[in-house]
Order: sequence, then structure tokens, then C-alpha cells
Amino acid sequence: MTNHTERDDISGTETTGHEWDGLKELDTPLPRWWLYIFYATIAVAVVYWVLMPAWPIGNSFTPGTLHFSDRRNVATDVATLQQARAPMYERLSHATPADIERDPQLQQFARAAGESAFGDHCRTCHGAGGGGQPGYPNLTDDVWLWGGSVGDIEHTIRVGIRSSSPETRMSMMPAFGRLQMLTPAQISDSTEYVISLGPAAARLHPDNAAAARGSAIYGVQCAACHGATGAGDRTMGAPSLRDDVWLYGGSREEIRKQIELGRGGVMPTWESTLDPGTIRALAFYVHELGGGEPDAPASPAASIPTNGAPAASNGAAVAPTQSPAQPSGATR
Ligand code: HEC
Ligand code: HEC
Repeated sequence: MTNHTERDDISGTETTGHEWDGLKELDTPLPRWWLYIFYATIAVAVVYWVLMPAWPIGNSFTPGTLHFSDRRNVATDVATLQQARAPMYERLSHATPADIERDPQLQQFARAAGESAFGDHCRTCHGAGGGGQPGYPNLTDDVWLWGGSVGDIEHTIRVGIRSSSPETRMSMMPAFGRLQMLTPAQISDSTEYVISLGPAAARLHPDNAAAARGSAIYGVQCAACHGATGAGDRTMGAPSLRDDVWLYGGSREEIRKQIELGRGGVMPTWESTLDPGTIRALAFYVHELGGGEPDAPASPAASIPTNGAPAASNGAAVAPTQSPAQPSGATR
């Protein structure tokens, strides 16, 4: 490899003096336009470093003279949005279901706010459209464990079910198998009886002799919660056993499993996580999913207590009005 430069005959350009096996490297100058663009990008970079956040320094960075911050801009936007919506949430938290029904603007707001909060907080368990999954009830049908009026739904969301709230909705089906309260044979008999109670009988063809034995067990062990006829009891969150709608699945094996294990699903309380306006929006949204029931006729006072009122007044006021409606719980 030689190192002296020379002029190339064909292009007229100097070589760099590098040569490998007879190949010589031309020292072609960079095109002007390219060079100017290159210098311009350097200039832009320097200006950018001065104006904008750019260089990391330890745990921090150079903030730039404009003190621009995407994070702060988003926070400001969110705060502005919250401020703009605050009056609507405030109105919502004081509105009765009848008020919401009467006011299209409030209705639209409740629907949108409810849908968005449902996506954030509820769909992990109840499914994207509220369709449910085994152990997590379908919120779009008209079958309710604890009640389907806006007031009932709101109360459920507020205090939860078997939740950490001191006011939680509570009842516990015993694990008849695990706790050896019933023998396996008695559990089989109870299963056959439960199947014989409603339209499930047509699918699963219960053993009539076993169902007759199960009937006696039912009267002693189950009727207190599920009702003498198996129609369920909303004050206990005990589902109807006659509607062929099953929280934990409707096969013979699945029905038997629930009698063995008495699972007792947990619905969290949202009172401390969500503000009253959001909870009301959620109740309105869930009510509108398809299976909502009418609220008790509004008394002169607000029919739903706002946040401060004792929860029991809601549950107690609503419960008695449910009993007459109970037979319709058997429809799908
Ligand atoms: C961790 C899972 C979980 C989350 C999250 C959850 N739920 Fe539930 N929810 C349940 C379970 C389990 C039940 C049924 C409890 C039972 O067996 O009585 C339930 C029951 C309900 C009921 C009563 C249905 C009936 O038939 O009476 C309503 C209403 C409800 N949830 C609404 C909501 C809303 C609204 C949210 C979001 C704010 C939500 N849930 C979030 C698990 C959850
Ligand atoms: C203390 C009240 C209580 C008693 C007693 C009780 N249950 Fe239950 N039962 C419930 C509750 C509450 C549920 C709701 C499921 C859950 O969240 O665990 C349930 C659910 C069920 C289910 C599942 C229904 C579904 O939709 O999937 C079956 C089946 C059932 N009970 C049968 C029985 C039988 C049979 C007995 C008597 C041997 C019995 N239960 C006694 C409260 C009770």
C-alpha cells in the first residue's frame, strides 16, 4: 500500500493515496447541497438543546430555556377536563334515577362516564360488555342476585359483596361437602333435586327417586336462603335455582360442585375508590345494559341516599319491594 496522492486521469479528482491491490481511493468532495444540509442539522440540534429538554445529567436533565414538559401538559389537560366535568359529576351525585331519566344531557353524560369507568374498573371480572363469566354474574340479563334497580345496583357497587367494607352485602352458602355437613350421597340427592326444580330438568333428566330424597334435605338445609320453592332470595343474594341461569355453570357436575364448595364470590367495594358521581354513572350504565328493573316509586325525599346516608336504609328500603317481584326472577 503506497501513500502518495495523485490525480486520477478519468475523473480529474485527487486520490487519497490509499491503494489496495491496484484499486485507488478517490478523494471526491462531498456535494455542496449535502454539506449545507449537514451543517443546518447541526445548527438545529444545538438550538434544540438550548430550548428543549435534551441532555441527561445524573438523575436529571437539562430542562431547556422553554421549560417544555409533555408530562406537565398532559396533567394540565386532564385537570382542565376534570374541572369542566366536575359540575356534571356533582349534579349526577345528587340526581335521583328519575332526575336522570328526565334530563337527556345528564343521561348522556352518565352513560358515557359509566361506560368509561366500567372499562377501567369492572371489565376484568364482568367482561367487556358486562356479559360475565363463570363466578362473575352477567350484568346484561334480567337475572339479579341482589337486585336490578338503579338503587340496588348502586348499593352493590358502593359496598361490594363479601367485600372489605363494613357495610358489605353478605351471605355465605356453606360448603356442604368440604365441611362434611352432607355426605356425598346427600349432595348427589340435593343436586338431583335442584335440577328437578326448573327447566334444567328437560336438559339433564334428574333421577326422580334421588330428587325426592333431596327434597327433604333441601327443606332443612337450603330453603332458608333459596326459598321454599327455590325461587331465590335477594336479601341473601341467593340465586333462583329454577331459572336455568347459573353463576357457576349449569352442568350436573358444576351444580354439584357449588353445593360441595359454596364458593361465595367477592365483589370489591368501590366506595373509597370512586367518587359518588362516578358510582351513580356506573349504576345507570349497568342498569341500561339491558336487564335494569324499575326503582321503587320515588318518595318525596330522594329515593337514593347520597353518600352520607346510612347504607342500611337503602338496602332495607329496597328489599321489601323486591319480594313481590320475585316470581319474575325465574324468567331469563
Ligand atoms: C374482582 C372481580 C370484580 C370486579 C372488579 C367487579 N366485580 Fe361486580 N361482582 C363480582 C362478583 C364475584 C359478583 C357476584 C358476587 C356474588 O356471588 O354474589 C359481582 C356482582 C356484581 C353485581 C350484582 C349483580 C347481581 O346479580 O345482583 C353488580 C351490579 C356488579 N357486580 C357491578 C360491578 C361494577 C359496576 C363493577 C366496576 C365498578 C364491578 N362489579 C367490578 C366481581 C367483581
Ligand atoms: C346461607 C344461605 C345459603 C344456604 C343455606 C344455601 N345456599 Fe346455595 N347459594 C347461596 C348463595 C349466596 C349463592 C350464590 C353463589 C355464591 O356467590 O357463592 C348460592 C348458590 C347456589 C347454587 C349455584 C346457583 C348458580 O346460579 O350457579 C346452587 C346450585 C345452590 N346454591 C344450591 C344450594 C343447596 C342445594 C343448598 C342446600 C344444601 C344451598 N344452596 C344452601 C346461599 C345459600
